[in-house]
Amino acid sequence: MRILVLGSGAREHAIVKALIRTGTPSENIVCSPGNEWIAKEVEVRSGIDATDRLEVVKVALEERVNLAVIGPEAPLVAGVADALREQGVAVFGPSQEAAQLEGSKNFAKEIMAAAEVPTGMAHQCTTIEEVEHALDQFGAPYVVKADGLAAGKGVIVTSDKQAALEHAGNYISGGVLVEEFLDGQEVSLFFLSDGKSVMPLSPAQDYKRAFDGDQGPNTGGMGAYSPIPWLPDGFVEEVTERIAEPVIRELARRGTEFVGLLYCGLIVTERGVKVIEFNARFGDPETQVVLRRLSSNLADLLLRAATGKLDVGPSAEFSKRKAVTVVLASEGYPTSAAPVREVGGIESAEAMDDVEVCKASPIGRVLSVVGCGDSFQEARTLAYEGLSRISLEGGHYRSDIAARVS
Ligand code: AMP
Ligand code: GLY
Repeated sequence: MRILVLGSGAREHAIVKALIRTGTPSENIVCSPGNEWIAKEVEVRSGIDATDRLEVVKVALEERVNLAVIGPEAPLVAGVADALREQGVAVFGPSQEAAQLEGSKNFAKEIMAAAEVPTGMAHQCTTIEEVEHALDQFGAPYVVKADGLAAGKGVIVTSDKQAALEHAGNYISGGVLVEEFLDGQEVSLFFLSDGKSVMPLSPAQDYKRAFDGDQGPNTGGMGAYSPIPWLPDGFVEEVTERIAEPVIRELARRGTEFVGLLYCGLIVTERGVKVIEFNARFGDPETQVVLRRLSSNLADLLLRAATGKLDVGPSAEFSKRKAVTVVLASEGYPTSAAPVREVGGIESAEAMDDVEVCKASPIGRVLSVVGCGDSFQEARTLAYEGLSRISLEGGHYRSDIAARVS
C-alpha cells in the first residue's frame, strides 16, 4: 500500500514516523508538501498548495497512492478529501461538509444540540450589541469565539469585557459565539471514524497557553502528554457513548458521513465532561504523544477507517509507557514573527534513546521534542534534555509541561 500524508508540520512528521514505526516501509510513504526534515525520512513532493484540489489530486494520482491521510484542517475545509474520493483514492479525512464540524463553531453547536451532547451554553451573535448582551448575561470570565477557522487565534478567554468586545469586533463579520465559561481540566480525545462507527485512541492533555503556569495568549499548543493518569475509570467509554457516537450518528443521519479523525476537545467540569470544541483532524502537538505510544499498525487502522471497515479487526492498542512533548517556538510566537533563524543541535537530540524530534517550520511552532519513558518523570526529563541540546536564537518553550503529572 502506498500512502500520501498531506501537510508540512510537526503533526505530519509524527504521523510519518508512526507509520514507519508501526510497520509501513518508508518507501511506501510520500509526504506533500512536507518539509526539509520530513524529506530525510520519506519521499517529499514539495511546492504544492495543500488546499488546491487539483494540485493534490495530481500528486496522489502520479504517486499511485491507495490512501491519502489529510493532516491540517484547511485542505479539509477546502474540499480536498472530496476531490480525492472522486478520483477513487481512499481518504482518511472528512468531506468539506463534514469538516464544518471544525470549520464552523455554529454548525458544531447545532450538531451537538441535535445529538444531545453536553457542551457549554452559547449565543450566536452577528452584531456587537448582541455580543455585549450575551457577555452581560454570562458574566466574567468571558469566552468569545470566531465562528470560522482562525488558525488557533479565534478564541479569547478574558475577564476584561473591553478585550472581549474588541476580539468580537475583529470577527463579527463572519459571526461569533459567546459561550459560558467552563472550569476544569482539559482533555483531548481522538476517535477514528469510518462514518458509522468510532474507535477511541488514547487521551492526551495539551497546554494551550504560551507561557508557564498557563499564562499568556492561547496558542496552537505548547506541549502535551499521554496517557492521562488522573482520569476516572470509564472516561473513554463515557465520551465514546455520550459524545463521539451520537455526533457521528447525527452527521450520518444528515447524509454527511464523517470519515477521518474526530478530535474531541473536552473540559472535565464538576458537572461532568463537556465539549469545548471539535476538530476534524489530528491535534498538534497531541498527535506526537498519542501516536508515539501506538503499538497497532497505523496504516491498517487509517485504511480501515477510510474504507468503512473500522469494526472489522482489532482496536487500537497503546504501550503503557508515557510520552511527553515540548514545543519549541520562535521568538515572539504567537503574537509576532521573528526573522527566520537557524536551528542547531537537532541531530544531537535525536541521537538520544527514546527521544524523537518532530519538525515543522522555521517560524511559529518550530518543532516538538518527544520523550518516551516508563514514568512521566523519565519521559519529561528526556524531552527537556533533548530540548537543551537544540539551539534557536530567541526561541522559547514552556518549562512546566507534565510537571504535575505522575
Ligand atoms: P478552542 O479553539 O475552542 O479549543 O478554544 C481554545 C481554548 O480556549 C481551549 O483550549 C480552552 O483552553 C479555552 N476555552 C474555549 N472554550 C472555553 C470555555 N467555554 N470555557 C473555558 N475555556 C474555554
Ligand atoms: N492542539 C490543539 C489543536 O490541534 O487544535
